[in-house]
Amino acid sequence: MRKVMIAPSLLSADFGRLAEEIREVEAAGCDALHIDVMDGLFVPNITIGPLVVRAVRKVTKLPLDVHLMIQDPIRYVRDFHKAGADWITIHVEAEKDVRKCLHEIKKQGAKAGISLRPGTALEAIEPYLPDLDLVLVMSVEPGFGGQSFMPDQVTKIRELRTKFSKRISVDGGIDPQTAVRVLEAGADILVAGSAIFGKPDRAKVLREFREVTRKYS
Ligand code: DX5
Ligand code: ZN
Repeated sequence: MRKVMIAPSLLSADFGRLAEEIREVEAAGCDALHIDVMDGLFVPNITIGPLVVRAVRKVTKLPLDVHLMIQDPIRYVRDFHKAGADWITIHVEAEKDVRKCLHEIKKQGAKAGISLRPGTALEAIEPYLPDLDLVLVMSVEPGFGGQSFMPDQVTKIRELRTKFSKRISVDGGIDPQTAVRVLEAGADILVAGSAIFGKPDRAKVLREFREVTRKYS
């Protein structure tokens, strides 16, 4: 068994004091930082670009897990990698030439991930599984933090685990309670925004997460 990773999603952090927020979760022992990039097109929200990723890169050694919720992500792979992204995850629904885009991510030297909306069937990503380091299963509709976990995505995780031996990440509505369900199904990266940054004591909530993951690590 490999270590389950906990990746706080910066979307729910206080952007006015981002460096402090990052130091706090890093000191509390998280394993990576999840960065949500939205373009107002693939999803209705607009968040951050390579400029902010570069700023984040300067204040932490943690792996940066960049989740591109943007149309035609191939256009920006290079910029995000240059800015410091270690993992680059694209949406299967957003890219015309998925294979080419995954190749581009690897060519840049990043780890390649693919994500799928809750309504997208696993079949849509199956042809790409051999090329992937990570699959990010969305357990909310992408676009906003703080939504409720969709329990029907657990079946997808369980099925994916039988077909894919690399990392399975779950994103949306993850807290120490819902984490148990996705870990049981075979996920091994927990992305959590509001459950971590929405709490005043981040060390405490990360301890609660770690307690849950211990059984699966
Ligand atoms: C939503 C983003 C998530 C978001 C999760 O589109 O991909 O990473 O930050 O937020 P919570 O953990 O609050 O559901
Ligand atoms: Zn995300």
